[in-house]
Amino acid sequence: MTSPAVPPAAHPERRAASGQEPAGPRHVGIIMDGNGRWAKARRLPRIAGHKSGVESVRKVVEAAPDLGIEVLTLYAFSSENWKRPEDEVGYLMGLLKQYLLSEIAELDRNGVRLSFIGDYSRLSPDILALLEGAKKRTAGNERLRLVIALNYGSQDEITRAVRGIARDVAAGRMAPDAVTSADITARLDTAELPQLDLVIRTSGEQRLSNFLMWQAAYAELVFTEQYWPDFDGESLRRAVEAFGVRERRYGGL
Ligand code: IPE
Ligand code: IPE
Ligand code: MG
Repeated sequence: MTSPAVPPAAHPERRAASGQEPAGPRHVGIIMDGNGRWAKARRLPRIAGHKSGVESVRKVVEAAPDLGIEVLTLYAFSSENWKRPEDEVGYLMGLLKQYLLSEIAELDRNGVRLSFIGDYSRLSPDILALLEGAKKRTAGNERLRLVIALNYGSQDEITRAVRGIARDVAAGRMAPDAVTSADITARLDTAELPQLDLVIRTSGEQRLSNFLMWQAAYAELVFTEQYWPDFDGESLRRAVEAFGVRERRYGGL
């Protein structure tokens, strides 16, 4: 099913040239890290950190529109997070279900449109049904687009895109030398989203951990020492402020 897209991002340089460059980032991605360490520092089980992290999700979703953010992509579960103990994986999936069930009405009321990126094939049927329901219910909302990355990994996403291209080439629909980076971009899970402007990672780690690697080619990166459960609207405002003083060059001068 194709759904109406957020208007495609004008290239930022063109937006600047037309004098319409907004001060802030349109599309922000967050690597929500440090739940376990937050809990450990309080002598709590790791899952207490995940539970508390849901509050931070609420706070950033509430704060984002007023900061001019149009799309917020949250890294909730990576394609590598299956390596964690089964009970932690189960708890995270349960939290996701609970979040969707308990928040959907409020999100809908607040004009939030939900979508999901990642490989759904490993998610359970009950979660898949919730994702589909959430997407449908909020499809007409325009205040904020909330994208949840679930069983998401950039390498997996790019691999899936390349397989699609390989199929087209094998079937004679496309010449090998005609493949461009735009063909890959168009086959990513994020194809209908505007360009990624800013990636925030909490908890002091300074790596992408397989999050939006292709899309982050020219994104600004902001790292904060705060653990995810300590992150809030004010933290998001500070990250947006840090973005505002960066000079983006896209390889030019
Ligand atoms: C982020 O917190 C949540 C997920 C990866 C699902 P972590 O669980 O990675 O917390 P730390 O990094 O162990 O502190
Ligand atoms: C990245 O955090 C994944 C999510 C936030 C969902 P991880 O905690 O899994 O990343 P690493 O293992 O520190 O790289
Ligand atoms: Mg971590």
